[in-house]
Amino acid sequence: MQALHRLVWRDPARRARKLLDFAETEADGGRDLVRAAELTQDPVLRRLYTVHAADEERHASLFRARGTQLLRALPDPSLMKSAMNWAAPGERGLDDLRVDEKSDASLLAFLHLSEKTAARHFTAYVGALRDDPPTSAVFREILHDETFHMNYTLAQLNRVAAGQKGAYLWRARMGRLWKAYLRIMSAIAGVIGSVMLILQYFILIPPFGLMAKWSERREPEGWRPAEKERPLKSQY
Ligand SMILES: [Fe+2]
Ligand SMILES: [Fe+2]
Repeated sequence: MQALHRLVWRDPARRARKLLDFAETEADGGRDLVRAAELTQDPVLRRLYTVHAADEERHASLFRARGTQLLRALPDPSLMKSAMNWAAPGERGLDDLRVDEKSDASLLAFLHLSEKTAARHFTAYVGALRDDPPTSAVFREILHDETFHMNYTLAQLNRVAAGQKGAYLWRARMGRLWKAYLRIMSAIAGVIGSVMLILQYFILIPPFGLMAKWSERREPEGWRPAEKERPLKSQY
């Protein structure tokens, strides 16, 4: 897995693109947490969500700053490569969060699993980016916060739903698995759609090309008189 991460992060153009994508995801997560702070009736959670939102906003700024630096150093920034986010997704957990539909306990369970996944990914990226110390340092700094997010969400889940912690975590895990399944299926549907369009192009269009060629052969060459006199006042 480490070899795959090194491959994904090796190219500076892709590295810049990924950092800018991560900045968007982190900023989006920060906005979700501001909304969660507005909605919760629990004053401790409101304060923690507000701190968490500020952390995610800071992560977005760090990623954006480093991504922009890398982008400016590229000889041709228009050659930005595909981000390969399927192989190195970053902090993806919050990108499809619907804060309004969740109770405090289910949101905490969801956040805990998302932050745990992010912490695991960022640990791998710190190692994969050994040859780029400034970018590796950005991930190391953010990893410190993600570990705090992972721990406080579990501690608060223990507080608000002590006896049902396992059930909330299990439900959140199922939800994440279902979303991963939908992501994979929509990627497969995209590939099948492209294959079908290519097949249509090579199977359905050639007969029309042949028919056009045959009718062209039946046409006499050069200028010839019109078959019937056309009135000059009408186009038909
Ligand atoms: Fe973050
Ligand atoms: Fe986080």
